[in-house]
Amino acid sequence: MDFSNNPQTKPFQDPHSFSTPEEAVLQHVDWHLTVDFRRKKITGTGVYHIQHRQADQIIFDIHHLQITHVWLEEEEKETEYTFTEEKPFLGQGLKIPLKPETRKIQIGFETTPGSAALQWLEPSQTAGKTQPFLFTQSQAILARTWLPCQDSPRVRFTYTARVQVPSHLLPLMSAHNHQERNKDGIYFFQMAQPIPSYLLSLAVGDLVFAPLGERCGVYAEPATLEAATYEFAETEQMLAAAEQLYGPYQWGRYDLLILPPSFPFGGMENPKLTFATPTIIAGDRSLTSLVAHELAHSWSGNLVTNATWNDFWLNEGFTVYFERRIMEALHGRDYAQMLHTLGYQELLHTLDELSNTPQDTCLKLHLENRNPDEGLTEIAYEKGNLFLRHLESLVGREKFDAFVHRYFSTFQFQSMDTARFELFLEKELLNENEALTQRLNATAWIHAPGIPAGVAPVKTALFEKVATELEKWVTGTPPQELPTTHWSTHEWLYFLTNLPKNLTLPQMQELDEAFGFTSSKNAEIQAEWLKHAVTQQYKEAFPALETFLVRVGRRKFLLPLYKTLLQTAEGTALAKEIYKKARPNYHSVSTSSLDALLL
Ligand code: BES
Ligand code: ZN
Repeated sequence: MDFSNNPQTKPFQDPHSFSTPEEAVLQHVDWHLTVDFRRKKITGTGVYHIQHRQADQIIFDIHHLQITHVWLEEEEKETEYTFTEEKPFLGQGLKIPLKPETRKIQIGFETTPGSAALQWLEPSQTAGKTQPFLFTQSQAILARTWLPCQDSPRVRFTYTARVQVPSHLLPLMSAHNHQERNKDGIYFFQMAQPIPSYLLSLAVGDLVFAPLGERCGVYAEPATLEAATYEFAETEQMLAAAEQLYGPYQWGRYDLLILPPSFPFGGMENPKLTFATPTIIAGDRSLTSLVAHELAHSWSGNLVTNATWNDFWLNEGFTVYFERRIMEALHGRDYAQMLHTLGYQELLHTLDELSNTPQDTCLKLHLENRNPDEGLTEIAYEKGNLFLRHLESLVGREKFDAFVHRYFSTFQFQSMDTARFELFLEKELLNENEALTQRLNATAWIHAPGIPAGVAPVKTALFEKVATELEKWVTGTPPQELPTTHWSTHEWLYFLTNLPKNLTLPQMQELDEAFGFTSSKNAEIQAEWLKHAVTQQYKEAFPALETFLVRVGRRKFLLPLYKTLLQTAEGTALAKEIYKKARPNYHSVSTSSLDALLL
């Protein structure tokens, strides 16, 4: 079997892109971008280097993006171009006719208020309160809203960018970055390794840099830099642990960018520069597995990339597994077990939520004619991870690690679909071993809903202790008498997620007085507690709830809180009132999920 055969050249249609890379494909782009905060607009041109064999056209993806001109570079004059019909979520194909000798095309473009990747923040929405901020979020199919591109994860290209910003701000990209501002506000970037479009990113703000080690550093607003430097001090160690496991880091530097709290995700693995929410700065380094996660994507995802969004579990399942191996290397088995157990609880919750659409609980998805965002569930993450752990338990860690290492090195800088993964698994690990094939049951994991029978749930002694203490409290022991002094964030989260469903208000009060959940500085703990506060109508926490929802735009926190509010008439009124205030602080990724519920 020839694994080197590049799927970019295999004729098959990505259901979420208009591009036809087997006919004409993007290889490199040189962009000029100007960021205009006054007009809230990026204007740009790109010289697109393409490859084709006598194709009569090349197709790019665009969505709410204005095209100002198209030139065939060799001709130095404008050329005719057309658009496909607009489709929901996908936008339009931009079709450019080619001459046999065309190798370069120049496209001029401008973003619009509908460019959903972009969030333009007012100074009041930043930590420093004096400068505006802009950031992009391209995954899954939003790159096409700020740059014309072949917006399919199986197309990889290199790029350079010359970016002009107001001279008091610093721009950063998923590329080789500058560590200091210059006087003229013009910056040059280069990404030498080919990447898929969903990893394109740009952030512009009042940003400063601090090193975290030889290869790692952190960018943040001045007001946040010190806390960030403390919180992420282990990053360099994580990088070393990751390399120890699955081979050399291929991207040069690994830096973090701490965004304002409206960032809609926990983290985004933009190559060389992870974007992260400030809500993981807990003051005690207890939420850093998110950094391990985004770092792990430097292999699973950025190096070996899901071929379509139907194969998303290949990105996220491997990454969750790898993230926890990194945390195990730094903090030991018990620590990793706690993360697995909390993840497993979330998986069970998701399986329950998706019980009416069981096909969405298969690892391999079928998102044709749907927004790929709908595939962003714990199935890809935690069922994917559970499947890999099941495989590990059957073949042993040594063989499993060698397999994963080979997987990354064989397919680096390529895309991977589920069928190709299954072939590799068969050839490298199963080798016609009937007994193993049956016990693994990969087909059921990948193509059938739910969790195959016979998988033992993860157990950890640390959490059994928490469960015992919780039981003691339920049966009358005062909370102050529980031995919680040495509990970590994870133990508290286990405590909170396993509280009885029918708590009384006096019980809520008692817990809050003893442990101060309402005013917790740890966003994970606070959000978990606030869900109970909403369910039990514990009104003492409502001011904190409102403050949280107005400040934080991370969708993972918003959706459960608003959904819980919507379960009662009174809650619905409150949810709508808060949403009105909070919505201007949310990125389109969050409002597109919430508008449907709250407007
Ligand atoms: N790549 C994802 C975020 C993503 C996925 C954005 C799909 C858009 C579409 C990122 O690596 C991620 O998984 N982030 C998680 C954190 C992680 C620790 C589970 C998040 O943001 O919560
Ligand atoms: Zn991820």
